Amino acid sequence: MEAAAPMVNAEYLKEIEKARRDLRALISSKQCAPILLRLAWHDAGTYDAKTKTGGPNGSIRNREEYTHSANNGLKIAVDLCEEIKRKHPKITYADLYQLAGVVAVEVTGGPSIEFVPGRKDSTKSPEEGRLPDAKQGASHLRDVFYRMGLSDKDIVALSGGHTLGKAHKDRSGFDGPWTKEPLKFDNSYFVELVKGESGLLKLPTDVALMEDPKFRQYVLKYAQDEEAFFADYAVSHKKLSELGFTPSKRSSSASLLAQSAVGMAVAATVVILGYIYEKLTEDSSEYMN
Ligand code: HEM
Repeated sequence: MEAAAPMVNAEYLKEIEKARRDLRALISSKQCAPILLRLAWHDAGTYDAKTKTGGPNGSIRNREEYTHSANNGLKIAVDLCEEIKRKHPKITYADLYQLAGVVAVEVTGGPSIEFVPGRKDSTKSPEEGRLPDAKQGASHLRDVFYRMGLSDKDIVALSGGHTLGKAHKDRSGFDGPWTKEPLKFDNSYFVELVKGESGLLKLPTDVALMEDPKFRQYVLKYAQDEEAFFADYAVSHKKLSELGFTPSKRSSSASLLAQSAVGMAVAATVVILGYIYEKLTEDSSEYMN
């Protein structure tokens, strides 16, 4: 079941800004940027462009879905977000999880990612098996990400999300971080991938990015040029966070600006008309005296 889209008005946007601040504080006190980013990605990454099912709709909060084996450990992140949801109940889970992902990247030093609110929540979860299996290779990655409507470039840029965090033996069976500073968002995931053997984690899907010639060209570029990685990552992350979501015209910042500009123009006209009216009545009263 899909709930109605939230009403994205000035009040909703204010709540989003407050939640953004609360998320920053939560992340700095709990050091939970990596697991919040993984939560945002796993809620969104179930999208199927053909059937228009799955995607960033908050359904990962359903017991049925967070108990999928690909989501092992993510109940921790669902519970962390619940603290924020309690303070800002108007915000949908779908928006909250994607906002958490965006804030996680920003506060750890990554690029700013544009966040457009208005996602609907769903109580219906997709079937298990839509997220990528780390034990497979390039063709599996393409199957999964193309199903979402994403490209080779998106696959490589988004894999750079592994600059944050680590694998846990009791969650995925893999162990350890991909980089030396797992709480810093930079291009070191690619630098380490190019370097090869270093004692840091490399999943079979990470290795596949170096082996496939089309993927490798992006890996080499991002390892050399952090700015290029940040620019592409911000675009791909926004795409991922908006799979199956068409922001209503009212939620875009441009249209809100336009709305407030119209408001200001109306207010100015009222003031001017009031002034003219006062002047006219003053003048006529002078005349009458
Ligand atoms: C390309 C396919 C991907 C595969 C096969 C994959 C697989 C994995 C695995 C096995 C883990 C370890 C989970 C654990 O044991 O705790 C993990 C963690 C993580 N993944 Fe991915 N992932 C993929 C893509 C992504 C993407 C696109 C992002 C974000 C943009 C991402 C963000 C993360 C983060 C931040 C963690 C660390 C979580 C923590 O420290 O608790 N991953 N991933």
